[in-house]
Amino acid sequence: MRIAPSILAADLADLASALTVCERGGADLVHLDVMDGHFVPNLTFGAPVVQALARRSALPLDVHLMVSNPEALLNEYLAASPAMVSVHWEATVHLDRVLAEIRAGGAEAGVVLNPATPVDVLADVLPVVDFVLLMAVNPGFAGQPFLPWVLDKARRLRIMIEERGLGTVVELDGGIGCANVGLAAAAGVDIAVAGSAVFAAADPVAAIGELRARAAEQAA
Ligand code: DX5
Ligand code: ZN
Repeated sequence: MRIAPSILAADLADLASALTVCERGGADLVHLDVMDGHFVPNLTFGAPVVQALARRSALPLDVHLMVSNPEALLNEYLAASPAMVSVHWEATVHLDRVLAEIRAGGAEAGVVLNPATPVDVLADVLPVVDFVLLMAVNPGFAGQPFLPWVLDKARRLRIMIEERGLGTVVELDGGIGCANVGLAAAAGVDIAVAGSAVFAAADPVAAIGELRARAAEQAA
C-alpha cells in the first residue's frame, strides 16, 4: 500500500514543515486538496500554492482538484509538474478531454468519485484512466468519519479493472486511519490518503509508517 498524507490536516501556516514530515515518514506521495468553495463548501489553496509546494517537495505530488470546471485552470496545476492529477467525475461534462489534457501535461490522470456516485459510470472510460480516487467521505473537509460502504465500491471497481485486464490504480481518500487501512488494502486499494491520521497524531512521522504496517498486516 502506498501512503499519501494529505497536508490539508496539517498546520496550514507551516506547509513546508508538513512536507518535511511526509519525507521523514517515508510517504510515497503528498496529497494536495484543492477546493474552490463552489464544487465543495470549503476553499483551500490554488495553483500558486501548489507550484510553491512543488518547488519545496522532494516527493511526488498528488493533486486532487475539488473544483467546478477543472479544465479552466488545469495548465496552472500542470505547471507544477505533479505526478498525479485527479478531477471529479461530477465536476465536468468533458471528462475524456480533461483526462487527455492531464496526460499531455505529463501527469497521471485520475477520476474521483463522490461516495454516492456508482463505480459503474467508469465502465467505458476506464481504459483511459490511470487511477481512480474513491471518496470515503463527502469532499470538503478533513477529519470526517469513514463511510464503510465505500469498501464495497472498491471491491467492485477492482473486479471491473481485472475483467478488462487493466493496470488502473485505486486510491481511497477520507477518514482512513490504522483502524481501517487494512480493510482498504483487502478491498484492493493501492494508495491510501490520510490527513488527520497523520497530522493529528502525536508523532506524525511515525504515523505514516504505522499506517503502512497496518495495511501490510491485513493484506498478507
Ligand atoms: C476531503 C479531502 C481529503 C481529506 C483527508 O475532502 O479530499 O483528502 O483531507 O483527510 P482525513 O484523512 O482527515 O479524512
Ligand atoms: Zn483529497
